[in-house]
Amino acid sequence: MTAAQGSSLARDRSDDVAAAARTRIAVQRLVKRFNAGGRDFVAVDDVSFEVKQGEFVALLGPSGCGKSTILNMVAGLLPRSGGRILIDDDAVETGKVNPRVGYVFQRDTLFPWRSVEQNIGYGLEIAGLPKAERARRVALAVEKAGLTGFAQSFPRMLSGGMRQRVALMRTLILEPEILLMDEPFGALDTHTKLEMHKTLLDIWERERQTVLFVTHDLGEAITLASRIILLSARPGRLKDDFEVAVPRPRDPVALRETAEFGRLYSHIWHSLGEEFRRTRAD
Ligand SMILES: Nc1ncnc2c1ncn2[C@@H]1O[C@H](COP(=O)(O)OP(=O)(O)OP(=O)(O)O)[C@@H](O)[C@H]1O
Ligand SMILES: [Mg+2]
Repeated sequence: MTAAQGSSLARDRSDDVAAAARTRIAVQRLVKRFNAGGRDFVAVDDVSFEVKQGEFVALLGPSGCGKSTILNMVAGLLPRSGGRILIDDDAVETGKVNPRVGYVFQRDTLFPWRSVEQNIGYGLEIAGLPKAERARRVALAVEKAGLTGFAQSFPRMLSGGMRQRVALMRTLILEPEILLMDEPFGALDTHTKLEMHKTLLDIWERERQTVLFVTHDLGEAITLASRIILLSARPGRLKDDFEVAVPRPRDPVALRETAEFGRLYSHIWHSLGEEFRRTRAD
């Protein structure tokens, strides 16, 4: 190794250490109250956590515990009842779009009247990117999503998994540094879900966006995340925080057969299971 290579490696490593320490999302004492049928109730109760640069954090909890509500407040789509959210040290203001943040929704939100390439290119069109540059980036995204040959197809002609790939690419093409994902694969069958995990892991392992990924599927959380934040049943409170020290790159199928996956699964399941039982007992 030459001296120049050596010093550049050393610099890269110290850059990594500095970057790893940077907080991208800080949620501080977050509270959300809703009014249902004239009665106020607490949906999110005093939740605090941080997501660092390049971390893949899963927010895990039973249905109705406030996961989407938290994500919507982080995205600035929903007002808070209390607490603060900072993105890169700036307070999130409701209704103000942050171009560094991308959001993949829980429901399929593709435009049915637009083709695959028109859906993927939508954000670039809004941003006023010249046509040729748009076409180049869209073609690349279509390929990355494994949708070659389907660029002209319409959403109704695609499977659920393919539609979710389009939705994912429509967000990723804008190159968000921070990615908020709300159960994007929740409606898919197990096999398609594993395929989507592979697609997402391939992209993330290359690009290392900062990700906050909402799910109620523990296997999905272990497969994807570096850290799992566990929420209690309604009202959502922070219950636990687990490190997922599984090496990368990860193979979503092979991973499920490892002893480490089984060990983590049963460890976290014990804590999560209590919350599922509490949800049912409500
Ligand atoms: N706009 C609203 N008005 C009143 N109540 C709401 C509103 N949005 C959500 N809620 C309630 O807040 C609680 C949390 O909802 P949220 O959608 O955040 O749950 P979730 O954890 O994302 O669930 P799921 O896993 O089923 O998507 C639920 O009891 C829900 O009924
Ligand atoms: Mg939800």
